[in-house]
Amino acid sequence: MVMYQTYFSTIVNQISGIVTLIPIISKGLESVNSVGDILLCADVEDANGKKKKRVKDVKGDIEFKDVCFKFKNSDSPVIDNMSFSVKQGETIAFVGASGAGKTTILNLVIGFLRADSGKILIDGQCIDDLNLQSYRQHIAVVPQTPILFTGTIRENITYGSDDISEEFLNEVIRSANLEELIESLPEGLETKITEHGANLSGGQRQRISIARAFVRSPKILILDEATSALDTISEKKIQDSVDRLVKDRTTLIVAHRLSTIRNADKIAVVGEGGLLEFGSYDELMEKQGEFYKLRALQV
Ligand SMILES: Nc1ncnc2c1ncn2[C@@H]1O[C@H](COP(=O)(O)OP(=O)(O)OP(=O)(O)O)[C@@H](O)[C@H]1O
Ligand SMILES: [Mg+2]
Repeated sequence: MVMYQTYFSTIVNQISGIVTLIPIISKGLESVNSVGDILLCADVEDANGKKKKRVKDVKGDIEFKDVCFKFKNSDSPVIDNMSFSVKQGETIAFVGASGAGKTTILNLVIGFLRADSGKILIDGQCIDDLNLQSYRQHIAVVPQTPILFTGTIRENITYGSDDISEEFLNEVIRSANLEELIESLPEGLETKITEHGANLSGGQRQRISIARAFVRSPKILILDEATSALDTISEKKIQDSVDRLVKDRTTLIVAHRLSTIRNADKIAVVGEGGLLEFGSYDELMEKQGEFYKLRALQV
């Protein structure tokens, strides 16, 4: 009788244990499935089976030739016959209404999106013929919302580049205006960043993202300025570090701040699928067209 009872309770416990495992198992299976999907997915970048050219060196000339682009799930094209060119070392600022397609242009240059027709030329070579992985080693991207991961500040800055001297890292920190922040933290560079950088302010996150770009020392810099308003001191710090960053590199920047726009060599007003205006700040101000109107709204 006693034996029977002990066995019975053991069996019941085991069964209830298995029952509680069922949701965990099904969740696990789901993950296995999605990992499988990714592993089995054909390489998007080499879909045509053409041999791609490895990019050893980038000068930084970029040209759009009649580029059209439409998102699969939308009817009208975001980019419709867009043409412009940027020379090595120049800074071009994209301005325009929200949803005009500024981020889309940047994503086309990075190769995250592929033009439906027309050509994007990097140093005169069509981006479709380039090995994107090797091409992207020469680019740094500072996105609209900085992406930080759980780890120390040091790891977040040096991410992807392991052989960095302490000296260079200190220089980067100074250039990105992070010195003060790091000195104020008891653990300094080794301070842990919680998920998505929740323990940092928006401006601090942006500067870490900028520092990351400094570390890569890219030939082409892609910068999507955040729309969120920051206090003037923080703004100034970011502006200073951005100014240092854009020196001597081809820079494509989605600009919201007037100071960034002023410092750019060329301004492109994006709208209606193309460029409404293209020229230097003084040219566009003199013309008193779209840019002039936009400027008037901002101040
Ligand atoms: N993944 C997507 N799928 C479908 N449509 C999209 C996708 N991403 C953006 N769009 C659409 O493409 C258009 C251009 O978007 P884009 O992000 O380039 O705008 P933007 O100029 O960067 O705007 P903002 O200044 O607000 O960042 C928008 O109308 C948007 O709705
Ligand atoms: Mg955008």
